[in-house]
Amino acid sequence: MLEHLARKWARKEKMEQSAEFDSNGMIPNHIAVIMDGNGRWAKARNLPRIAGHRSGMKTVKEIVKASDEIGVKYLTMYAFSTENWKRPREEVDFLMKLPQEFLTTELDELVERNVRIRMVGSKEELPAHTLKALETAEERTSGNTGLQLNFALNYGARKEIAIAVKDIVTRLQAGEIALEQIDEEMISRHLYTSDFPDPDLLIRTSGEIRLSNFMLWQLAYTEMWFTDVLWPDFTREHLYQAIAEYQGRARRYGAV
Ligand code: FPP
Repeated sequence: MLEHLARKWARKEKMEQSAEFDSNGMIPNHIAVIMDGNGRWAKARNLPRIAGHRSGMKTVKEIVKASDEIGVKYLTMYAFSTENWKRPREEVDFLMKLPQEFLTTELDELVERNVRIRMVGSKEELPAHTLKALETAEERTSGNTGLQLNFALNYGARKEIAIAVKDIVTRLQAGEIALEQIDEEMISRHLYTSDFPDPDLLIRTSGEIRLSNFMLWQLAYTEMWFTDVLWPDFTREHLYQAIAEYQGRARRYGAV
């Protein structure tokens, strides 16, 4: 009897979670995700923080598949910020190994799915093994035309903007461009994200309501969706919920 009730409740909970989005409606072209809460997830289980990141990697796999299946064109995942180097050495080393681990097990399937992989961020400080794994994936998938999966790694929006400013001023000083030519489009073209569109939807997990130096320029008109769910507990149903809410929003871009 108790077992029957438990099953009933589990079903009810699942149904409440799975928001119906309109598969014929507007699917966000580009979804950006701040994957937060791995550490808290691990702590709640008396596990080391890295166990949370490993579990978070499983969520990455699931959300990539779900996004691909529903027709999202770009998915950008914030995996490591320019500030994350301040974490304990052991945790940083672990995080730097995750792209390799992920790609070793997933790359073949991603190639099969026609997914294109890109890295967004500064390559300079990355360990050689991390960079190699990412560059191999970038090369192997460069001709793919399906979902574009961007890993924001060693990414910081302020750094990105500072680099763009430096590049533009250098071109100005060299006489390659005139002052009047500097506009929003030129700045966009000098960012790491120069060849893909701004996000339509930003998702942040774990109850934190901030941007943490993520895509500050690109998120100007992005719809934002925050959830208390910790990243390792985030499921495709949560993604559907976010999309359902996105579909109900009116995007006016400053107009009436
Ligand atoms: C933030 O949670 C999460 C990170 C800094 C790392 C995110 C990385 C992954 C989810 C795995 C990435 C996978 C690949 C394939 C690159 P936190 O550690 O700050 O959590 P807390 O706020 O609860 O401490």
